[in-house]
Amino acid sequence: MTKKINVKLSDKSHQIIIGNDALQNAVEKINSLNLSKCLLVIDKNVIKHHSMLIRKTFALLNCKTFSYILNANEKNKSLTETGKIYKFLIDNYFDRNSIIIAIGGGITGDLAGFAASTFLRGIQFIQIPTTLLSMVDSSVGGKTGINFNSKKNMVGTFYQPEMVVVYPEFLSTLPKRELYSGAGEIFKYAFLTDFNNYYFLKNNLKKLFSSSAISIEKTIYTCLKIKVGIVENDEKEISGLRKILNLGHTFAHAFEAESNYKINHGQAVIGGIFCSLFLSQILGYMQMERLNKFLNDFNFIKLNPGLKSINSGSVFNLMSSDKKSISCQKRFVLLVDVGNIITDVKASKAHVIYAIEKMKEII
Ligand SMILES: NC(=O)c1ccc[n+]([C@@H]2O[C@H](COP(=O)([O-])OP(=O)(O)OC[C@H]3O[C@@H](n4cnc5c(N)ncnc54)[C@H](O)[C@@H]3O)[C@@H](O)[C@H]2O)c1
Repeated sequence: MTKKINVKLSDKSHQIIIGNDALQNAVEKINSLNLSKCLLVIDKNVIKHHSMLIRKTFALLNCKTFSYILNANEKNKSLTETGKIYKFLIDNYFDRNSIIIAIGGGITGDLAGFAASTFLRGIQFIQIPTTLLSMVDSSVGGKTGINFNSKKNMVGTFYQPEMVVVYPEFLSTLPKRELYSGAGEIFKYAFLTDFNNYYFLKNNLKKLFSSSAISIEKTIYTCLKIKVGIVENDEKEISGLRKILNLGHTFAHAFEAESNYKINHGQAVIGGIFCSLFLSQILGYMQMERLNKFLNDFNFIKLNPGLKSINSGSVFNLMSSDKKSISCQKRFVLLVDVGNIITDVKASKAHVIYAIEKMKEII
């Protein structure tokens, strides 16, 4: 059954549609917008596996439709690739009454969203996520961005889509490594609200890691409900509430960069969350008994073995360039307990290195 989530924002309220009818819903919505032109920015691997579905679905659009195939990697999440999209739009006479639809994972969504938000000062945009990570996280919340000067997401915008369309069937072709990457953000959501969500997400993560059937639609729905609840209350990360979505991410961004992006985002997030748990305990925010419970509850999670050889000192130095650091001071999102999160915590080099080394011990 199709599930819907209304995202209520002062700027642009919209709907998230999750389910097997989601693509049909998208076509109806796009046709109702009476657009002049549509650009599908499609991940190369998605078109390889789902070309028939995509062709059949978008043949039903009532506007002229073009495709731009993207080789989705962090190197191409760049100003150069954005420029190529601008050129494509200009060459094909796209005007302000046109739309970009991102069909792919977080890289495709972030890049296409950035292009949509800046071309002609903003044209319409729809997200159709195809990875687990993008279905539970990156397609929602309105953050777009590209990497610049080897720094992750250094340039970007807040730009809400017309709608987000989650068609879980896309996951049937997703490599296992990418499924585990999505698991990283699900792991994060487990800590953000209450023990109901904690146990539901933990049980489904356990099934995911043991390749058992999981309630995928309900898992996606639960994660997105949590994210929407946060984004609705702090759309542009002003009050600080939205920062809790960065649990584990100060570590994660540095792990990604230090590994030269061999460790992908979600896998880096898993390592980063474990580091945050150890840091929370050593700084006295979390009781040891709580830490042990969390480590025990999630002992089924397979950490990326590449994290074992990561150099803690280099990671610490890289953190100063994270865009969330203030005046080069590293800030962390830490945990007292499930649903009790603190943000903007400073930590010494010794404590940060301790947390990374403890994380390495559980690999
Ligand atoms: N905007 C946000 O709020 C936000 C939040 C979290 C992460 N992100 C960003 O998202 C990016 C990571 O996203 P991701 O993990 O989705 O990675 P991704 O977009 O690189 O996709 C991962 C891989 O899966 C392939 N792929 C995608 N869909 C597929 C499918 N259905 N079948 C087979 N292969 C498929 C892609 O080609 C790619 O090789 C990072 O750049 C990160 O910074 C953004």
